[in-house]
Amino acid sequence: MKYTWRSPSNIALVKYWGKHGIQLPRNSSISFTLSNAFSETSIEFTKKNADNNKVEIEFLFEGEKNEAFQNRIEKFLNSIVSYFPFITSLNLQISSINSFPHSTGIASSASAMSALALGLCSIENELTGALSNQEDFMRKASIISRLGSGSACRSMYPYLSIWGKNDGVSNSSDEYAIPFTESNEIYKTFHDSILIVSSDEKKVSSTAGHELMHNNIFAETRYKQANKNTVDIIDALKSGDLDKFGLIAEEEALTLHALMMTSNPSYILLQPESLKLISLIRDYRNETKLPVYFTIDAGPNIHLLYPHSIFNEVQDLIKNELSKQCEGGRVIEDKVGIGATLMSK
Ligand code: DP6
Repeated sequence: MKYTWRSPSNIALVKYWGKHGIQLPRNSSISFTLSNAFSETSIEFTKKNADNNKVEIEFLFEGEKNEAFQNRIEKFLNSIVSYFPFITSLNLQISSINSFPHSTGIASSASAMSALALGLCSIENELTGALSNQEDFMRKASIISRLGSGSACRSMYPYLSIWGKNDGVSNSSDEYAIPFTESNEIYKTFHDSILIVSSDEKKVSSTAGHELMHNNIFAETRYKQANKNTVDIIDALKSGDLDKFGLIAEEEALTLHALMMTSNPSYILLQPESLKLISLIRDYRNETKLPVYFTIDAGPNIHLLYPHSIFNEVQDLIKNELSKQCEGGRVIEDKVGIGATLMSK
């Protein structure tokens, strides 16, 4: 038997930054599900002759053996045996590809971990029938994704997902993401043009960055701000208030980087070109009054967020001005998408 899931990456509007316990977030976060950047992961499974209580996998990345990835996945699978006791009685052949080139500065852990988690849930359901209810299935896949990489739990629902307990958001949880289904139509076709400032590997991983929040003197204020921003951006997402949406998205991006700068040790992931791009985007917005905003992940690249109605204008801006600040003029086009899909079984 073999299951193949395609799962996309996501871009946070309100950022998850700081965690505790077993991958539990310090604040709520909300993200756009993307569409062009995805991982596609097949898991083929056969029964072992005897259960030797070991996780045994073969892993191919883009058709080739990759020891570093294989070790990471084996370690992860060993850590979730209590969620999937059947894992040790199977031989798993896992094969994964990414739709985007490896060195673009686009994080692949969200798409990769969610695609893997969905495959494991399909196997569980095949063997036990325990996840035949769609909501239970997605919830477990989100929990397992979270254990692999926090932000991965937000990758599989259409358009927008919320993760983290927030008193202002009903049914929200620290353990899994929930779909946000009340979005104004305008956000469902939003674009994310990723301005690649650098495709180098990050100097400080997100996991190390989360760790540094433990001693950041702004931490408590930050968690409050994020919880409030989640509630406020939900309003803007419901009403279609683009100004309010953009103000919060940009505040979140800059706060994330301010937290890195104020960590001990401090570090800076933004590059001179990142700052130049921010200022070009804000100047353009002031001059044209068009609703084009930015967000930034834990890296130097700038994500340009805008509605489909101004696609042509923004493409001109990118071509004439913004791409000059990018590494080799590189821009990756993505947009809001419909979430994970089962490709074959
Ligand atoms: C800046 O989910 O990559 O993208 O849980 O340690 O795997 P781990 O971290 P990760 O952190 C993502 C941080 C972020 C913000 C976000 O996606 O919310």
